[in-house]
Amino acid sequence: MDVETALRQMPKAELHLHLEGAVDAATFASLAAKHSLELPPHDEVADLYQYDSLADFLLIYSLVCRSIQEEADFRRVTYECLERCANSGARYVELFFSPESHFEMGVEYPTMLAGVLGGMADIKADRGLESNLIPAINRELGPARAVEFVEMVAAHPHPQIIGVGLDFNEIGFPSEDYVDAYRAAAAHGLHRTSHAGEVGPADNVRAAIELLDCERIDHGYHVVDDPDLVARCAESQIAFTVCPTTTGYTTIWRDLSAPDHAIRQMDAAGLKLMVNSDDPGMFVCDLANEYVRLHREMGLSLSTLKEMALNGIDAAWIDDTTKVSWRREWSAEIDALFASVNGG
Ligand code: ADE
Ligand code: ZN
Repeated sequence: MDVETALRQMPKAELHLHLEGAVDAATFASLAAKHSLELPPHDEVADLYQYDSLADFLLIYSLVCRSIQEEADFRRVTYECLERCANSGARYVELFFSPESHFEMGVEYPTMLAGVLGGMADIKADRGLESNLIPAINRELGPARAVEFVEMVAAHPHPQIIGVGLDFNEIGFPSEDYVDAYRAAAAHGLHRTSHAGEVGPADNVRAAIELLDCERIDHGYHVVDDPDLVARCAESQIAFTVCPTTTGYTTIWRDLSAPDHAIRQMDAAGLKLMVNSDDPGMFVCDLANEYVRLHREMGLSLSTLKEMALNGIDAAWIDDTTKVSWRREWSAEIDALFASVNGG
């Protein structure tokens, strides 16, 4: 078996995946046409999927969000997103989605939930893929709205809505501003993660851990600028959900083979990393290939990649009994896959 096939079949978790960023150009074109959405000038819709910064990406991301309006749209994009995860060897997914960006088009929160939870049920029935949902706070709407958002999430409880995230652009929206929202999330029994240190400073990573009480950190790359914080994170083994492909477009680390790439530095420092695809439709990547890129371009060994896959279980918001049995099962499966690579 070749390495690519083994890495594709390797059981894995996906914990940093944005539903709307998973929408591919063809589906975006079809939904935009369905809702007569006005788009910027372009030849092919795929041409719109070109950006060189987080801010540029988020403009198009918001347009994609505007194209998803009806329950059936949410169900479709959720199914397509999770089907690709299953094809990448994912056994468990925690999926972000961006309710605020759909409110702009007048979509009601229960409509979104019906579609997304419906798509999650469909893929579970068809492919056995387990998933849970994380509504994400749009930090660009400010701290007061963040508190209201958390209260809205808490007012619509569901066993598969398990926590909150914090995304969009860190610049101008420091993590420390969201203490009240995260305190409310904790009080409602919601798990907590946050984008931090993607384009913003290490202080955002520190604040996400110390002030927001996050259980894991999304991206976190700028932690490498603060050696004391790196040491603390190595000691606590808080998990970082890193996303190799999107670093090449949204961060200052554009080359996965560079010796100073943040993910390489984080791994070398003993931080607990797990691998994710972030926005696979909009950056034309997939989860399995994220591992392949870390192997081929960053030169990470198969044993490191196995450890990262298993870190996904530790970082997941699932019960401890499931963690123990998945760790045992996945570990044995991965060993058998990698043995067949080595064997030829
Ligand atoms: N929303 C979707 N992808 C994101 C990213 N990489 N950073 C911030 N917000 C996002
Ligand atoms: Zn993200």
